[in-house]
Amino acid sequence: MKATTKPTALVTGGSRGIGAATSRELAARGYRVAVNYHSNREAADQVVKRIEADGGEALAVQADVHDPRQAAELLERATVDGRLDVLVCNAGARFTPTPISRLTWDDFNAKVTGELASAHTLTQRTLPIMEAQGGGRIVYVSSAVADGPPTVGMAAHGTAKAALNTFARFVAYEAGPLGVNVNVVAPGFVRTEASAGMPLQFQRRLAEGTPLGRVAEPEDVARAIAMLVGEDAAFITGSVVTVDGGHGVARP
Ligand SMILES: NC(=O)c1ccc[n+]([C@@H]2O[C@H](COP(=O)([O-])OP(=O)(O)OC[C@H]3O[C@@H](n4cnc5c(N)ncnc54)[C@H](OP(=O)(O)O)[C@@H]3O)[C@@H](O)[C@H]2O)c1
Repeated sequence: MKATTKPTALVTGGSRGIGAATSRELAARGYRVAVNYHSNREAADQVVKRIEADGGEALAVQADVHDPRQAAELLERATVDGRLDVLVCNAGARFTPTPISRLTWDDFNAKVTGELASAHTLTQRTLPIMEAQGGGRIVYVSSAVADGPPTVGMAAHGTAKAALNTFARFVAYEAGPLGVNVNVVAPGFVRTEASAGMPLQFQRRLAEGTPLGRVAEPEDVARAIAMLVGEDAAFITGSVVTVDGGHGVARP
């Protein structure tokens, strides 16, 4: 990345859905944002263009974050003069909900390993950068399904996200003395392209069972992430912030 006076942020999977909203939100709050994408260059370019049209700074950076070598390179390209103030680990591959009876080891392994490989590599490479600059913020995007009641078909996704939550607790413990705050946002259902296949009737029922009366938009999650990387969250670390409009508390 070119030199900038702005604080810098890397959002993995920053080109669509929750990541795109987070890229825009952080740019609006004064960050120069590296918008990571995997395969859809056009979507990433659109996010960058919109940020620039609004007066912000951003660049699109391709990398498959599940590949440790590419994740490490991504970090090098996203830092500015060796600085990275905010890391948001958000990228998530789409998946087909599959009951355990039909869930192959290869699919289960790929889901859990992919989630943890990107979190591990990006975290391990980011901590020395943040330590050298005197601090920073890391947010992992998990899911309410990790701690919620099990639903059929979600074993691989739920296990991956539960492991991510646990990893984040250990990172928070080790990174606190380095001046790095580490937190998790755990959204319930969010209206993105990834969730667009869920029937409208299902979405309506979810909204009815949610105290705040609707399902989440990507911007709801983006604002929670922005809150966690902002000054008001200076003494918050090791937390899981659920962003589900209260759906979890309303469950029987
Ligand atoms: N939507 C929900 O209801 C929901 C609920 C709870 C948690 N979440 C979590 O929120 C995160 C974002 O979900 P979303 O719904 O916003 O997904 P989405 O709309 O499908 O967007 C996924 C983003 O991740 C990128 N991506 C996918 N695999 C990647 C890889 N291997 N390397 C780099 N980038 C990759 C995509 O880039 P390309 O387009 O270039 O492939 C895209 O930018 C995920 O971690 C998901 O598990 C979502």
